[in-house]
Amino acid sequence: MANFEVIIYEKKDDIGYVTLNRPQALNAYNLQMRDELYQVLAAIKDDPEVKVAIFKGAGERAFCAGADLTEFLTAPSPTIARQARWQRDVWGLFLSIPQPLIAALHGYVLGDGIEIALCCDIRVASEDAQFGAPETGLGIIPAAGGSQTLPRVAGRAQALEILLTGRWIKAEEAHRLKLVNQVVSRGDLLPTAERLANKIKGYDPLALSYAKKAITRGLDLSLERGLELEARLGEYLLASRT
Ligand code: COA
Repeated sequence: MANFEVIIYEKKDDIGYVTLNRPQALNAYNLQMRDELYQVLAAIKDDPEVKVAIFKGAGERAFCAGADLTEFLTAPSPTIARQARWQRDVWGLFLSIPQPLIAALHGYVLGDGIEIALCCDIRVASEDAQFGAPETGLGIIPAAGGSQTLPRVAGRAQALEILLTGRWIKAEEAHRLKLVNQVVSRGDLLPTAERLANKIKGYDPLALSYAKKAITRGLDLSLERGLELEARLGEYLLASRT
């Protein structure tokens, strides 16, 4: 694995740890982070030793304060190579990862930060977490899938309110809105994510990935088609064991 600068990627006891690592800029998401995240996600996807992954932010103040405003709306470098990197479908890759993904969220969780969290399957927040989608106030719309993932998680009306008003939401409200699964103390954030990961990693990886696929893909299907998907995946699972 390449030596990264703005992402820390570690593997320990079947768990992949992905840390957004620009604490001096509240882990703002820049082009370099995008490129490194892409490589890490591709590595996780193809690594049977990673049964589950935890995403977190470095430093005390933020999971991620959104897109890097110093690169914001500036034309990327004109070189074709850089453009190609910019066009990488990091979010499509994120959402195609078969392993369960857990987001451990603290401090500022803004813009891309929410969107990264929404690409994960389970979100745990600490009491100090604050969520916001400032994009519309900046004259843009979410670009990391948030306009699609947020309503699927929090519902249409809540997603519209969050995106159209850009108002910030504290951890307890995020929990009520189903944006996060649970809220814990700051000190208990990583241990809680690890408890979940340790539970999950003991299960059959194929069963986990099929359960994830049945729910995430099924949500975009009619009930009838979703039930067909479930039955098909169940048959594949049984066949894989004979
Ligand atoms: N892009 C680039 N740098 C960022 C950043 C971002 N999105 N968010 C924070 N930073 C940097 C600040 O420039 C500052 O750097 P400096 O110490 O070199 O001056 C450092 O992180 C700390 O942030 P600061 O603004 O001093 O902290 P604060 O507590 O006063 O405010 C926020 C925190 C999150 C309210 C504020 O930083 C903010 O509004 N950030 C932008 C959020 C945003 O609009 N994101 C884009 C979403 S699309």
